[in-house]
Amino acid sequence: MAERSRQSLTLAKTEALRDKIRHHEHLYYVLDAPELEDADFDALMRDLKEIEAQHPEWVTPDSPTQRVGGKPKEGFLKVAHSRPMLSLDNVNTPEELADWDRRVRSLAGDAEIAYVTELKLDGLSLALHYTAGSSGGAVLARAITRGNGTIGEDVTSNVRTIRSVPLAISAEKLKKSRLPMPFEIRGEVVMPMAAFLKMNQEREALGQSPAANPRNAAAGTIRTVEPNIVAQRRLDFYGYFALQLTPGAEGENAFPTQLETLDALTTAGFRVNPHREAFKTLDQLRTFVARAEEQRASLGYEIDGVVIKVNSTALQKRLGFTGKAPRWAVAYKFTARGGVTRLQDIAVQVGRTGKLTPVAVLSAVAIGGITVTRATLHNADEIERLGVKIGDFVRVERGGDVIPKIVEVVEDKDHPRGHKRFHFPAHCPVCGSEIVRTEGEADYRCVNVDCPARLRESLLHFASRGVMNIDGMGEAVVVQLMEHGLVHSIADLYSLTSDKLLTLERIGQKTADALIAEIEQTKKAPLDRVLFGLGIRFVGERTAQLLADAFGAMDVLLTATIEELERVQEVGPRVAAAVHEFFAEERNRELIERLRMAGLTFTAERRKRSAKLEGLTFVLTGTLPTLTRDEAKERIEASGGRVSGSVSKKTSYVVAGEEAGSKLDKARDLKVPVIGEPELLEMLG
Ligand code: IVH
Repeated sequence: MAERSRQSLTLAKTEALRDKIRHHEHLYYVLDAPELEDADFDALMRDLKEIEAQHPEWVTPDSPTQRVGGKPKEGFLKVAHSRPMLSLDNVNTPEELADWDRRVRSLAGDAEIAYVTELKLDGLSLALHYTAGSSGGAVLARAITRGNGTIGEDVTSNVRTIRSVPLAISAEKLKKSRLPMPFEIRGEVVMPMAAFLKMNQEREALGQSPAANPRNAAAGTIRTVEPNIVAQRRLDFYGYFALQLTPGAEGENAFPTQLETLDALTTAGFRVNPHREAFKTLDQLRTFVARAEEQRASLGYEIDGVVIKVNSTALQKRLGFTGKAPRWAVAYKFTARGGVTRLQDIAVQVGRTGKLTPVAVLSAVAIGGITVTRATLHNADEIERLGVKIGDFVRVERGGDVIPKIVEVVEDKDHPRGHKRFHFPAHCPVCGSEIVRTEGEADYRCVNVDCPARLRESLLHFASRGVMNIDGMGEAVVVQLMEHGLVHSIADLYSLTSDKLLTLERIGQKTADALIAEIEQTKKAPLDRVLFGLGIRFVGERTAQLLADAFGAMDVLLTATIEELERVQEVGPRVAAAVHEFFAEERNRELIERLRMAGLTFTAERRKRSAKLEGLTFVLTGTLPTLTRDEAKERIEASGGRVSGSVSKKTSYVVAGEEAGSKLDKARDLKVPVIGEPELLEMLG
């Protein structure tokens, strides 16, 4: 930050910067209407981080920088709900909806009925508690999952990372919304389809099994004990209820109608689903349902129906509940996007790590507008679990654009069972080599490192968009390159010439030249791309980036010990072992030497990571929420800082945890700034 602006820095200016960031977060994450370029937004955030690093005592819990804080210490605390979180009764047909409407009308007596229709978002419900914050506003105090409806889990640290959840609501917005303090917002957390697909891609690149659908992905993410991971995945929160938390009126509706609730939530800065309407007649309800079903595929997030609620809170009270569900609301559920078809065969695919994946070959069936002929069966255990035999009829479901999945075997008089049991092959279906299953792992692998299937998949991975981005090197070209004996390894790509490419089918001079130029440009790709491209087990995009950042050069990484690898943030023993094993292998070393000769980038542009805390002295006291004393020390030192055992005037910061002792008193006496672990982590970056 420039000297001039540093001098004029004040607490008030910092708060104004925070408000500006909050405003742009709201535009981007709630209204989907950003006014700033990403880079400009990032610059604002960077400025705020810098100011807060210089003035840790100015950091507030509702600052936009504080979305990622400490992890929950021992899993998630159980918390009771202000009022049970109930579920809804379902109707599936227009007739059932008419029955429900009739029942409501008969119970309501003379009262005029108005309904509000909303989409039934396919996620998980969540309760957010807001309490009084500084200068008349409200702050997020707690986020609780539904749990068993009566008791949920406190997932506040994870929910704070969801950008459409306001951490703070200004006094002005609060007043306009007329939300009564303190209050509770209930709504649904969803993972948008795009984020879901991205997450699954990353999981598969790491050899992890993909999540079955966005709802499972969202639920799993919310219960992850690592807020960093939650922050990387995009989740959204849509509010639909506002309840009072005033003592004596806990759990009571805050507004006289559902429509007013939704409007108040919008005013307060929550994301509220735009597809909502007020209706009086059954016909109108049916039209809304039909329209929602049409919109379903293009919303960008999953819905599984429509929710219809009685608008008036007073009437809701009058109608009351039956068992676990209100009488004043109902879910019109769409039929699942699935179909029943015959399993013709089970094929086995070999991936780039040699992993064998069974794939169901199906009689073509139309599901949600696409024709499905294949579905994943994941691994041998999954086939066992389903008890599926070749010739069986199976129910296939598809969540959005993901690979369809077999959910069960169907058996009735129209759908007789198949007879042929599937046996996992004893040899690789591509090269005939032996296959092995490591103790404790679900997957079989081909042991042959030269297996053509592995080479094919490795080349496709190397050339793919997220890696080296070699335009024009798709499956057809890769297969030909291998068949013509032009490529036996990734390194051979760099000995290709236009003339050699001209010997392939359907490749003319122009295409050949373009492909050579594309391959040439990969030499400029940074080290982390090269690492990602090597296809090391468990090394996805992010891990590759972390390794490149931490080691700075291929040569340093080549000689790194397992211990050194494990010291990298987020790299665990499993990843460290895989990386170490990869570089210990003679053939891989040869490959790397050939890539070096070809001129690929082997050094990273080092960020000035290690000098971050240079000149600063820290004193640690008390128990920190997540880091042990040794870990904190190690990380401070790795960033160029010093850790001392006693507080003096020269101490830059005292990092205080729970039950901090006399060092804290001394810090206060000497006016040494005291920070907590979240601030320390922020400084460490
Ligand atoms: S109202 C008693 N509104 O559907 C009130 N729920 O089976 C029930 N859901 O657990 C909640 N979108 O997770 C309501 N617009 C919406 C909803 C919605 C999705 C979920 C919610 C609830 C389940 C009910």
